Amino acid sequence: MIVKDKVVIITGASSGIGKATAELLAKKGAKVVLAARRLDRLEAIKNAFPAANISTIRADVTNFEDLQTVVDYAVDKFGRIDVMFNNAGIMPVNSLASGQRQEWQATMDVNVMGVLNGIAAILPIMEKQGAGHIITTGSVNSRRVVPRWTVYSASKYAVRAIMEGLRTEETSKGIKATLICPGSVHTELYKSISDPAARKAEIATEEKIGLDPQLIARAVMNAIDTPADEDINEIIVRPVGAPV
Ligand SMILES: NC(=O)c1ccc[n+]([C@@H]2O[C@H](COP(=O)([O-])OP(=O)(O)OC[C@H]3O[C@@H](n4cnc5c(N)ncnc54)[C@H](OP(=O)(O)O)[C@@H]3O)[C@@H](O)[C@H]2O)c1
Repeated sequence: MIVKDKVVIITGASSGIGKATAELLAKKGAKVVLAARRLDRLEAIKNAFPAANISTIRADVTNFEDLQTVVDYAVDKFGRIDVMFNNAGIMPVNSLASGQRQEWQATMDVNVMGVLNGIAAILPIMEKQGAGHIITTGSVNSRRVVPRWTVYSASKYAVRAIMEGLRTEETSKGIKATLICPGSVHTELYKSISDPAARKAEIATEEKIGLDPQLIARAVMNAIDTPADEDINEIIVRPVGAPV
């Protein structure tokens, strides 16, 4: 599936990996539908690429109806959807002893239910088409658990299980499933860590080794840019110098 003219929905498109992917795919001629809560950020991306085919729509991935609206909008406008990139995520980093139940709940709501909501909204369309590609952002934390990253890792392990289940259930119907697992990437994600000491420490590491989000965008594009009979199921992208 070459990228040009493909209809691609991207959640979490307002910053970081989602924004970089939106820009890359739009430049390559895809018809991108950008979703996030900060509509002003999405509009800024659209305005920066006036010749590209970019649509913007406000959506909170924790709300299934929002994602259904995004899917309906894309189908109405383009008649089909080729790729759903479930990328929105949050990353509170705190110990279990901190008892931050609200942050844990939000992590599960966005990182796990957000992905499931995206899958639930898109699958009926892709099954009807007999084709489609669902891509989800996991993490190196889909495969490891280190202190203070327990709940985030739990959400990303869940995402890996969901994407593997999606593959086994849907591959016979022509639907591809790809999990993108980045290591440290230089984005706003780290600024949302509420514990000041953890935030400072994680930002210090990320500033030293974090990858440019454009490199993850390239991995997403490579997964899309495959023949109809090739399904790249997982891509792990670590910075050189990150031992785990
Ligand atoms: N940065 C890293 O080192 C790294 C490493 C591995 C995996 N990841 C994963 O990469 C993905 C993207 O993160 P990023 O690093 O690009 O961080 P980011 O710059 O903070 O981007 C996060 C995106 O998620 C969106 N988002 C958050 N909550 C949302 C909600 N309830 N509904 C809709 N959108 C929501 C944000 O948009 P709004 O706030 O506008 O809604 C934003 O566009 C996440 O899944 C993250 O877990 C990141």
